[in-house]
Amino acid sequence: MDSLLIKGGVPLCGDVTVSGAKNAVLPIMAATLLTAEKCVIRRVPDLSDVGFMAQILKSLGAEVKVDGDTVTVRAAKLKPVGDYELIRKMRGSICILGPLLGRQRKVRVSLPGGCVIGTRPIDLHLKGMKCLGAALKIEGGYVDAKAKRLIGADIFLGGRAGPTVLGTANVMMAAVLAEGVTTIESAACEPEVVDLAFFLSKMGAKIVGAGSPTITITGVKELAGVEHEVIPDRIEAATFAIAAAATNGEVTIHGARPDHMHAVLDKLKDAGVKVERKGLTLTVKRGGKLKPIDITTMPYAGFPTDVQAQIMVLMALTPGLGIITERIFESRFMHVSELSRLGADISIEGPSAIVKGGQPLSGAPWLATCGHRQLWSSRDSRPRERRRSTAFIIWTGATKRLIKNLRAWAAGFNVWIRNEDLNQYHHRVRGGLCRLPCF
Ligand code: UD1
Repeated sequence: MDSLLIKGGVPLCGDVTVSGAKNAVLPIMAATLLTAEKCVIRRVPDLSDVGFMAQILKSLGAEVKVDGDTVTVRAAKLKPVGDYELIRKMRGSICILGPLLGRQRKVRVSLPGGCVIGTRPIDLHLKGMKCLGAALKIEGGYVDAKAKRLIGADIFLGGRAGPTVLGTANVMMAAVLAEGVTTIESAACEPEVVDLAFFLSKMGAKIVGAGSPTITITGVKELAGVEHEVIPDRIEAATFAIAAAATNGEVTIHGARPDHMHAVLDKLKDAGVKVERKGLTLTVKRGGKLKPIDITTMPYAGFPTDVQAQIMVLMALTPGLGIITERIFESRFMHVSELSRLGADISIEGPSAIVKGGQPLSGAPWLATCGHRQLWSSRDSRPRERRRSTAFIIWTGATKRLIKNLRAWAAGFNVWIRNEDLNQYHHRVRGGLCRLPCF
């Protein structure tokens, strides 16, 4: 699926259960390379990145079985080099570097390219491997890393924009099989790093302090196969919550982890959104008039950069002046020009986007940015006869499940999926499939 056609302008109302966290499952899948035994991962989201990671593990010689939301991996024998093209395609694939170096003391991975949100360097990942004793060479688009022995070290992983999430994951995965004690200072504190540490600990790793800026790892000789259920996706839950507020609907989100979402829930409250919390269930709707807010993205437990685009949509619909400052990725504002096509009034001043909200929005062709799977609709407040198809965004990785939910939530909220082979959009309706030629 590479594009969708959406007829919006209706409130989204309904129930949804949150999927497993993409940012937790990718490093956890990579961590299965640390053992020859079978690992079973549950609550795996249905995303293209997960499919890519499964293919990468296969290209390294692992047996991988995907059965619904369960992925089973047995990496009995491994090759030191994966498929260059596959690894290059997905930034998250860099997290095979740590486990392969840890287990085989030798690895060759293609350098992940930059992407639309910035240059995405991996200097901190490489620094960590070097501190553990690896010799590194970058040649022909590959990173070659090898080490006779990996030896625990004190590693400072703070970068220009703060800690690195996948860098912390990578160093942790190499250090679990190193000799002696490794201390990571300025470690990322994201819940996904904690989930990976939990997975590794179940395998037999000795890790203390995950979730804080100092993580201490005492190396062990080998690790065992385990079963694990991935944490719920806090970014997806935040996306559903903002979608409810943006469309003036009401959505009940089950299986969320509100304790991972403090910054987002707090800002939604400031914006006039009502969130009722009952255990792991959140019910979200507008609490009255929306209010503009200021937001700065930060490492966890600050406001997540991965929710920056979504909150900008809400601000675009909120009368008044909202300011959104991006501090993690320097170019993560591609959606601004796309939102402008819908009629939003947003200007960029250095790292900040100034949103003059409340302009009427109308549907337009929209370019998806950066592999996200969020999708939006806005409520068009004009009289029915003056409404045009509004809303809609779509990022390329939109899941079939998400589209099903959106269709169920809003009668008249049509999502059409493009079929490349037939050069048609199609939309399943009672009694058959509606078709529309691509334009
Ligand atoms: C992860 C998430 C991504 C999220 C991001 C920040 C996954 C699969 N992806 O990406 O969804 O947006 O965290 O929360 O988990 N940096 C360096 N040198 C490095 C590595 C990073 O300077 O070696 C910089 C980056 O350019 C960026 C900042 O550090 O400015 C944070 O990046 P990082 O935390 O590494 O992002 P990812 O782990 O790639």
